[in-house]
Amino acid sequence: MIKHLKVLERDAQNVRLVLEKSNALNDAFLPIKKGGYILWPLNFEVKGEIVVCEGVKSKRNSRDYRKLLPVEIRSLAPRSFDIFGDIGIIRIPDECLDYSDIIAKALLKSHLNLKKIALDEGVKGEYRIRQLKMIIGDSDFVSLHKENGFEFKLDISKVYFSPRLSMERSRIYDMVESGEKILDAFAGVCPFSVSLASKGCKLTAVDSNPDSEYWAHENFRLNKIPKTSYDFFCSKIEDVLPELKLYDRIIMNSPTTSLNYLQSISSKLKIRGVIHLYTIIENSAVFKIRDYLPSNFSCVFERVVHPYSPSSSLMVFDIVKAENNVQYTNQ
Ligand SMILES: C[S@@+](CC[C@H](N)C(=O)[O-])C[C@H]1O[C@@H](n2cnc3c(N)ncnc32)[C@H](O)[C@@H]1O
Repeated sequence: MIKHLKVLERDAQNVRLVLEKSNALNDAFLPIKKGGYILWPLNFEVKGEIVVCEGVKSKRNSRDYRKLLPVEIRSLAPRSFDIFGDIGIIRIPDECLDYSDIIAKALLKSHLNLKKIALDEGVKGEYRIRQLKMIIGDSDFVSLHKENGFEFKLDISKVYFSPRLSMERSRIYDMVESGEKILDAFAGVCPFSVSLASKGCKLTAVDSNPDSEYWAHENFRLNKIPKTSYDFFCSKIEDVLPELKLYDRIIMNSPTTSLNYLQSISSKLKIRGVIHLYTIIENSAVFKIRDYLPSNFSCVFERVVHPYSPSSSLMVFDIVKAENNVQYTNQ
């Protein structure tokens, strides 16, 4: 029997981060899902509702690279990092930067699928490009990443791509129906567009970064999507919007700016169409998406996708457009 922390499913990812940071999460066991709650297995008791029950043993060996670090560095080194193809991408706090080499070597040793380790210095600018410095490996940032049965090849130092959105891409994939017309408004290298086009949807993808355009075409080709299934516009969405028709579904994944575009882009949605809007919310803020919605729009689903910083989260809102005279009662 082991102790678990019981939390609401919608808070689970934020809680996981806190548990990982304090080394309280027991990764020899799996989380348990039960009636809207997640039970996180614990190494030691923490504040909150504790449930003692039979744990579910994880079949995987622990891949916590920190077990390979000297004890004095172990508690300072970050537990989580991203994997893009064969490149491990890690943010290292300032107080740990002197140990970057040791951390990178431990990561390579514990994750045999990785060939290079890069230091993540944050995402910047209109194109949302990750500032990267290779710690181990040559400075070629092109890699092939596999996700949900698709392959994405790109230069992660020149375009935006986040492996953390794979569950979102799979969620939207499960929702769409063949034949839908979809606008991917901030498309990047087209991870959403490629998967939805493979299901028989017709995609209009827009991104202002010329490198995104190059890799987007490469990814449609890699995944055998016919050219008749998509259009790519290398442009700012605001410049191309007047030329666009109406869509069954619109993806707005520009978390730092998408709320500013909601009014204009939502004019391109058909009645009963859906917008998937990604935005960053301060955890302490009282945020109501309905304050930003045009009158005949309604939010039908929302969730935290993942923590964005210690004080904020990336959230998704699914927003539907009603007939002009219909009022939703859940607003
Ligand atoms: C957070 S990334 C999302 C990329 C992609 N949807 C994905 O999931 O990987 C935002 C993208 O929007 C693009 N972008 C920024 N401002 C834009 C604008 N005004 N119009 C079109 N694209 C823009 C950036 O180049 C970047 O690729």
